[in-house]
Amino acid sequence: MAREAERLRVELGERSYDIVIGEGLLADCGRLLAPVLARPRAVVVSDTTVADLYLDEVRRALRDGGIETDAITVPAGEGSKDFDQLRDLLEQLLALRLERRDTVLALGGGVIGDLAGFAAAILRRGIDFVQLPTTLLAQVDSSVGGKTAINSRHGKNLIGAFHQPRLVLADVAALASLPRRQLLAGYAEVLKYGLIGDFAFFEWLEKNAPALLAGDGEALRHAVAVSCRAKAAIVARDERETGDRALLNLGHTFAHALEAEAGYDGGLLHGEAVAVGLAMAFALSAELGLCPSQEVERLTRHLEAVGLPTSPAAVGLGEVEPSVLLAHMQQDKKVSDGRLTFILARGIGQAFISRDVDQARLAALLASRPAA
Ligand code: NAD
Ligand code: GLY
Repeated sequence: MAREAERLRVELGERSYDIVIGEGLLADCGRLLAPVLARPRAVVVSDTTVADLYLDEVRRALRDGGIETDAITVPAGEGSKDFDQLRDLLEQLLALRLERRDTVLALGGGVIGDLAGFAAAILRRGIDFVQLPTTLLAQVDSSVGGKTAINSRHGKNLIGAFHQPRLVLADVAALASLPRRQLLAGYAEVLKYGLIGDFAFFEWLEKNAPALLAGDGEALRHAVAVSCRAKAAIVARDERETGDRALLNLGHTFAHALEAEAGYDGGLLHGEAVAVGLAMAFALSAELGLCPSQEVERLTRHLEAVGLPTSPAAVGLGEVEPSVLLAHMQQDKKVSDGRLTFILARGIGQAFISRDVDQARLAALLASRPAA
């Protein structure tokens, strides 16, 4: 018999919501959603791949819960987080006469959550939305915390809004259909929580990554629950990233620069870029004399053991000039008065925010070009 679902709470006053983690939640989503909808009408937004796999099941469950539905499907992939797709989606939602008290259901990975969440944030000045994340990355990170955005030619996630979902349903059974490359990319965000502030979780991951990446349900549930608990606590303390929430960007300044350089065509997945970014953030911390080199080696060994990249060269970007990556970094949302904010670490599980990284040492690290 399937284990009972676990329920966590993101405490944000009147914007508080639950994260439910379990198996079979998509097939039961009508019952779970009915109490949180202002009106029993919703539009399910998903991508072509996810729609083929789960849309019928979700719509059936919603109908069984007495919820009237329509569905909109967008092309799969990062390319959908753009202005054209956003405009099309908004026009389609309006054509369906979505009212202020109706709800957008984001069924898919981080791309769908970010795109549909942003559309919900600005449609009729803001309507409710619910996250039904179907990738590991979305279940442990992007579906929680209310960041929604599209990309610009100037960089990733530069146009967006904070808009909290009304509920997150993380059905780990849906991860069974996820290609291994995508599971691995999501694993980089799982690992991030261990590296930020939970050494015991990092040790657990060192032991249990093989089971988790083989799709073991118990291991996945545990990893999703630990990750969501950590993220919920940070978001509750700092919803709009004026402080601590920036810790969640460990590795991301590097990652976003690599993604901007690679383009958003699926050649480099966000989680793969994050894996490289995590290794680089630790390497920079060691370069600055803040972190013992054994900790960098331990992290790099683990990334390599699971099959994640640890350098720009490993993702085909070894020849990119440091000045080009630095220029991408200057578009980072954390730039303040022209200064970059970096998340550095004193060791595994000991990340901190630094606003005074020596640019010359950073450029030296970027120029050091470790082998793939
Ligand atoms: P994604 O949404 O593109 O999903 C990856 C691929 O997996 C897609 O092709 C999708 O169709 C497919 N897929 C999804 N679920 C599936 C399933 N269960 N079975 C089979 N295939 C499935 O990518 P992602 O990695 O989930 O998310 C990446 C995005 O998330 C990036 O745009 C990133 O910027 C964003 N993000 C946002 C936040 C945030 O806080 N808002 C945090 C982290 C990342
Ligand atoms: N993914 C980083 C954040 O939600 O703040």
